[in-house]
Amino acid sequence: MANRVKLGVNLDHVATLRQARNTPYPDLMEAIRMSEACGADGITLHLREDRRHIQDDDIYQAREVITTSMNFEMAATSEMQKIALQVKPEYCCIVPEKREELTTEGGLDVAAHRDRLSDLVAALREENILVSLFVEPNSLIIDVVAEIGASIIEIHTGHYADKHGMQQQHEFERIKDAAKHALDLGLTVNAGHGLHVGNVKPIADIAGMNELNIGHAIVSDSLFVGLEQAIHNMRHAMDGEPK
Ligand code: PXP
Repeated sequence: MANRVKLGVNLDHVATLRQARNTPYPDLMEAIRMSEACGADGITLHLREDRRHIQDDDIYQAREVITTSMNFEMAATSEMQKIALQVKPEYCCIVPEKREELTTEGGLDVAAHRDRLSDLVAALREENILVSLFVEPNSLIIDVVAEIGASIIEIHTGHYADKHGMQQQHEFERIKDAAKHALDLGLTVNAGHGLHVGNVKPIADIAGMNELNIGHAIVSDSLFVGLEQAIHNMRHAMDGEPK
């Protein structure tokens, strides 16, 4: 389908369940294969500094298994940079990380970390790894992303997802304006965080949107309907087709 918004499936929480009991199951590689077989356009894995879900071995194994596109989500640390350069994913999404957070709680402060991010983007790009920076929907921040040399932004949709009514509409307008600004600068625009079948459609419909990265809602739904059906349901919610 022309210009269809891509669905990147984040499978961190398959590993969360596995790590809860330190069992070999659920099998993350099987989840990757299944996700790709039923329409995922890419697989996202976040190797957190505290290794609370994805483990180092998962990243190396996943590199062998993923046939679509591997999105390695990482903090801007030298440890993660080294792993990314060894693994060579198709792209890296750089996120802020705080140990005490439940999940990634906001976009990068690109101005404060400009020099470090510039060096990281340059090192990854040298190995032909595309770099995405996870940012708040804010034009000033997006200007800095373009200056740093990253070619992709992932807009943080968490505030949109947390709000309702007029406040949600306001967040939506911010995301739409930020996406337009980024596209005008020649950046590729992705989005993600907190998206589920009930709130994904307006974001998927934003002009020029390239890819949505969605994890928690898909893995949660899969408990009730299975992973394949959960991915189909998300795809249909994005496309606006009946289930
Ligand atoms: N994008 C980024 C940068 C994230 O950190 C996450 C969460 O790991 C997601 C997308 C997916 O968010 P969710 O799990 O809420 O769908």
